[in-house]
Amino acid sequence: MKQRVVSGMRPSGRLHIGHYHGVLENWVKMQDSYDCFFFVADWHSLTTEYADTSGIAQSTREMVLDWVAFGLDPQKCVVFRQSLVPHHSELNLILSMITPVSWLERNPTYKEMLDNIEARDLTTFGFLGYPVLMAADIILYKATRVPVGHDQLPHLEITREIARRFNHLYGEVFPEPEALLTETPKLPGLDGRKMSKSYNNSIYLSDSAEESSKKIMGMMTDPARVRRNDPGDPEICVAFNLHRLYVPEEKLAEIMPACRTAGIGCVECKKILVTCMNERLAPFRTKREELAANPGFIDDLLQDGSRRASQISDAVMAEVRTALKF
Ligand code: TRP
Ligand code: SF4
Repeated sequence: MKQRVVSGMRPSGRLHIGHYHGVLENWVKMQDSYDCFFFVADWHSLTTEYADTSGIAQSTREMVLDWVAFGLDPQKCVVFRQSLVPHHSELNLILSMITPVSWLERNPTYKEMLDNIEARDLTTFGFLGYPVLMAADIILYKATRVPVGHDQLPHLEITREIARRFNHLYGEVFPEPEALLTETPKLPGLDGRKMSKSYNNSIYLSDSAEESSKKIMGMMTDPARVRRNDPGDPEICVAFNLHRLYVPEEKLAEIMPACRTAGIGCVECKKILVTCMNERLAPFRTKREELAANPGFIDDLLQDGSRRASQISDAVMAEVRTALKF
């Protein structure tokens, strides 16, 4: 029996290459060795976006287009939308009854976001209870493995505690899911800060070859390398982080000493990157365009995946109701 994997992403719209190399590429690799459920966490978006929900539907479509174009195969894994499977909400309600508020209040992510996000009022019940919904997402499918980044580890720990408490109170229903820690390479954006939609410094998976070329040609390099004759240092160069991802090893071995001796200029060096990157992404980008040309495709795919997810969650919820003696 394959281990069951569940993971979700909030619908943030078009994904950038940082999302791809940090999360999506890993999901794609897991499809063959695990029984995978990947979902759009659209209810989770409400924890922070409740005041303006106008972008969520479109962001969902854009994100799932990226998922499928870049390798998620709905034949191999179940791709669905959380809000189309109401069992997430039913289980969330039940789990909320057995989760001590103190577990939620001491969650480091909670405290950090409350302190740092001033633009929105996050003092809501739902925002505090976000890890309960996440626990429901995971154990609803009896997942045994959850691929997450470091930032989500405290949430997974709460999930395990909630599952344990449920089992203790009502009998053994849920396995305790384990984290599959994904090492996310920190990918800098065009300006050297973390790649993020809000900084406007991203290269998107859906950018055309021309768009991404233009972005890379304007990307920060080694700030000390002002003139063509100044030697540079690839370890400091911002663009070189992308070289490491896309340019073959042998070529890197040529570029590094050439940069240090000013034997190669940044324009030439970036052109190598542009060529390698566009070559690598081209087939996916073409596929994305083809899929995007069929307007109902993503909605149908999510409907179908959500139906398949519901079949599993329906059976688990029946067990839950029995355990509760309802
Ligand atoms: N909390 C995750 C995030 O913000 C998204 C998420 C929701 C998730 N439910 C999940 C991830 C269940 C893994 C498993 O990125
Ligand atoms: Fe960066 Fe290449 Fe310029 Fe060196 S030559 S600073 S590695 S872009």
